[in-house]
Amino acid sequence: MSNIGSYEQRLEGFDWNIAKQILNWEEGELLNIGHMCSDRICAQGKADKTALIWEGFSGEKRSYTFDEVRVLSNAYAKFLQDQGVKPGDRVCIFMEKIPALYISFLGILKMGGVAQPLFSAFEHDSLEVRLRSAETKAILTTQKHLKKVRKIIDDLPLDTVICVEGNPAKLKGEEIFFNVDEAQRVDQFECFESGPETPSVLHYTSGTTGQPKGAQHVHGSVFGQALTAHWVLDLQDDDIYWCTADPGWVTGTSYGIIGAWALAATNCVLDSGFTSAKWYQFVQENKVTVWYSAPTAIRSLMRDGTDLVKQYDLSSLRHLCSVGEPLNAEAVVWSEEAFGKPFLDTFWQTETGAMMITNYPGMPVKPGSMGKPFPGIEAAVLDLKTNEPITEPGKVGLIAFRPGWPSMFREYRNQHDVYASKFVGAPADATPEQCRTADDVWYVSGDRASIDPDGYFWFVGRDDDVINTGGHLVGPFEIESALIEHEAIAEAAVIGKPDEVNMEVVKACVVLNPGFEFDDMTELSVMNFIRKKLSPLAMPQEIEVKDKLPKTRSGKILRRYLKALEWGEEVGDLSTLEDD
Ligand code: PRX
Repeated sequence: MSNIGSYEQRLEGFDWNIAKQILNWEEGELLNIGHMCSDRICAQGKADKTALIWEGFSGEKRSYTFDEVRVLSNAYAKFLQDQGVKPGDRVCIFMEKIPALYISFLGILKMGGVAQPLFSAFEHDSLEVRLRSAETKAILTTQKHLKKVRKIIDDLPLDTVICVEGNPAKLKGEEIFFNVDEAQRVDQFECFESGPETPSVLHYTSGTTGQPKGAQHVHGSVFGQALTAHWVLDLQDDDIYWCTADPGWVTGTSYGIIGAWALAATNCVLDSGFTSAKWYQFVQENKVTVWYSAPTAIRSLMRDGTDLVKQYDLSSLRHLCSVGEPLNAEAVVWSEEAFGKPFLDTFWQTETGAMMITNYPGMPVKPGSMGKPFPGIEAAVLDLKTNEPITEPGKVGLIAFRPGWPSMFREYRNQHDVYASKFVGAPADATPEQCRTADDVWYVSGDRASIDPDGYFWFVGRDDDVINTGGHLVGPFEIESALIEHEAIAEAAVIGKPDEVNMEVVKACVVLNPGFEFDDMTELSVMNFIRKKLSPLAMPQEIEVKDKLPKTRSGKILRRYLKALEWGEEVGDLSTLEDD
């Protein structure tokens, strides 16, 4: 078992410099995540250690040592440079969880580019808004996804399309084929001289209003990611680690790549659809020791029962953690029964870049609670009206954090006002830096919780209309905008509807255009329209036709009213509701 020290020991005299000691990194040295996750590990004598164990959709397997990851990521870095990509340029990675994703991610960072990973299930519209917002210069993708890119490229400032897997003969126009396995070894690459504040990763996340926002991270984030990976995931040198998240979402980069490789852990990736049997088989075969997953997956495993668990040798598992949605107490209790240890809940966000509230190993678990703030994190729940920290145990407020932790997002790309709106105590016209450094400022997460007398945080729900489906945030605005482009739909309001496994699924309430009937054909056509335009995640699982939608007097659709009806909750103050 680990020797990371008790929570209380770690709280005392905590200093983020501990992360530097753990990474053996000294002030003045190169701080580049690409370098720290490959070259440095090799320099520590671990060049031949397995960095990546990968299994694909049809069962094919590959593995890479840290030296291979180093050399191949160099090849990506050099190739991008040769294509004219400059430091600071956004380079999108748009592909399944194939080895090229993980290795090119380091390559982009090595040459100073900003990695912009996007979920490969996104369809052309979802892709377009994110590439447009990021003014993405180059995209790395596979033949399978080229169609979506071709559909939108003419309207974007996207200079370079690189296909890393597929048939080169199928490429069109100026598309370039680059298969790293066939490329020349690049043994030495001079990494871009980044520092703690140099932009590194740009992750898009959904909000209630407007299109998705690009949360910009920096190379200094590695200190937060590595320390939390070491202390909370308890990653040690000999661990075989499996983070089930897709790097299109922040967990898949912060912990599916950076935290793991900065600590030289062997990282496992299974790029195939979910079945409980497949997952257990993967754990058994690779002797996974540390497993980081999400409540939706855990609930799905739970549904398949403990008898299935017993058919596999899962004795290698020594530490389990979860993130992304509320981890219900039953799932924690079940995992003790099934695996002999609980899944430990962790809470954080795209914006925070790393874990904030965690069940620290060794700390007594209160099933259903998210745990306590990670050492070095000052967390509070703020009163809903006064924004003052609540001192009364059990009273619900907004989860907030004192800015200053290393992995905090540095801006929402080109949306300074939205960034400023996430901070209480900062002037409305504050620059992003002022937001983070002004006295008495809180970063407000957009989630509600209460704190019990022992200091444990209990999640209550989101404070906005964002839908969390299976741990993936979906913005209602993006779906509503797409829905009204369908010929049958005049108006739309999108809300989350309770779901046993996914926690929430998307439900659309719509008003039809005159002359349209809502029959099975129309329903199917609307669902498919969204799936093909945005993504399967965004597709409404239910469409309810209404004569009119509830609106405020100023004409804003009141989603919270529809949501309260759906969830059987009190509808609250309706004084702003438009009169009949
Ligand atoms: O609502 C919270 C929920 O997921 C949101 C963050 O989503 P995203 O930025 O996509 O990052 C997900 C992975 C870090 C939060 O605002 N959430 C995350 N973890 C938990 C959670 N809700 C309840 N319990 C958690 N442990």
